Amino acid sequence: MGLTIGVIGLGRIGSFHADTLSALPAVDALVVTDANPAATDAAVARLDVARPVSDADALLSAGIDAVVIASATPTHAELIERAVAAGIPTFCEKPIAMSVADSAEVVRRIGGDAPVQIGYNRRFDPAMAAARAAVASGELGFITTVRSTTLDPAPPPKDYIAASGGIFRDCAVHDFDTVRWLLDDDVVEVHAMGGNQGDPFFTEVGDVDSASVLLRFASGTIGAVSVTRYNGRGYDCRLEVHGSTDSVVAGWDDGTPVRNLQPGSGFPSGTPHSFFMDRFAAAYRAELSAFCDMVTDGTPSPCTAADALEVALIAEAAGRSAATRVPVRIDEIRAETTTRTTRVRTTS
Ligand SMILES: NC(=O)c1ccc[n+]([C@@H]2O[C@H](COP(=O)([O-])OP(=O)(O)OC[C@H]3O[C@@H](n4cnc5c(N)ncnc54)[C@H](O)[C@@H]3O)[C@@H](O)[C@H]2O)c1
Repeated sequence: MGLTIGVIGLGRIGSFHADTLSALPAVDALVVTDANPAATDAAVARLDVARPVSDADALLSAGIDAVVIASATPTHAELIERAVAAGIPTFCEKPIAMSVADSAEVVRRIGGDAPVQIGYNRRFDPAMAAARAAVASGELGFITTVRSTTLDPAPPPKDYIAASGGIFRDCAVHDFDTVRWLLDDDVVEVHAMGGNQGDPFFTEVGDVDSASVLLRFASGTIGAVSVTRYNGRGYDCRLEVHGSTDSVVAGWDDGTPVRNLQPGSGFPSGTPHSFFMDRFAAAYRAELSAFCDMVTDGTPSPCTAADALEVALIAEAAGRSAATRVPVRIDEIRAETTTRTTRVRTTS
């Protein structure tokens, strides 16, 4: 018998995940809910295998084998904790929580062995996984530089930006997770810079529309992350890894949204990528297949809550570095977070 999976949150990514899950051989049925009943009705109308329930309470007690949490970020922490407490294997979209302190608290409460997978989907992109394997094999020599790029074609609405936690927590987290996972190494220092040339609402809500972040890894490798909300040519997500003996790139194909001015070169010649869901459709499918494997075979989580906490520490350091214009050490943020969660624990 296949799995029955609950899906909480059926907005942009949740409805996409519900569609993906419904097509996986390991999945027999879905139980779905969204705070907006119209979103629940739409999923049920679209998917034969989906049945609706009124809310997360009803879903967590509906006899499901596993749950996918894709509701808005402020709901993640509580839903992860409740699902884990009920013994239900849990997939949750990134991030765990809005603040690094709240993320640390969730990780502390659920413990290291909880069957939880966080949705950093780029780990499942075939070329990015091949880049990681190339690093691990040693065939690139020592890694001097990693560059990771996420350039969105156009900004989301003001309300989304205002509630997003800012470009480092909302967008650059994907790059932070990818480079850390790729190198199997920890970031020790972060130097970030942000800028605004687009809509004034970014400044009004205390965010930036573009940013670059330098990361120093424990090994000595330098990471360079660039992100923007204004890349008019398309959705550009790429990774370059430069080593002492060889270099590789992930994300170069005919849809790479750049105009190559090299005389005589016709590359890239296709329609530029325009949206993350098209660019990463295969990765999202592989990510949810891996989650089903974790549920059925007990395979280890391919992206643990502890991994996501490390990413939250980097994002926090980046925000602070951009605001203060000085480099920030991860140890500082980690020590503050540990102190804060210890204080919460002893006073609650
Ligand atoms: N991994 C990725 O590539 C990726 C991409 C997009 C979004 N995300 C993450 O996924 C989450 C959702 O993002 P989105 O773009 O789909 O947002 P969205 O606003 O389109 O959808 C969120 C949905 O959650 C519902 N919701 C809110 N509170 C709820 C609750 N308590 N119970 C049930 N439903 C509830 C809302 O009604 C809405 O339909 C965010 O945390 C975001 O960071 C991840």
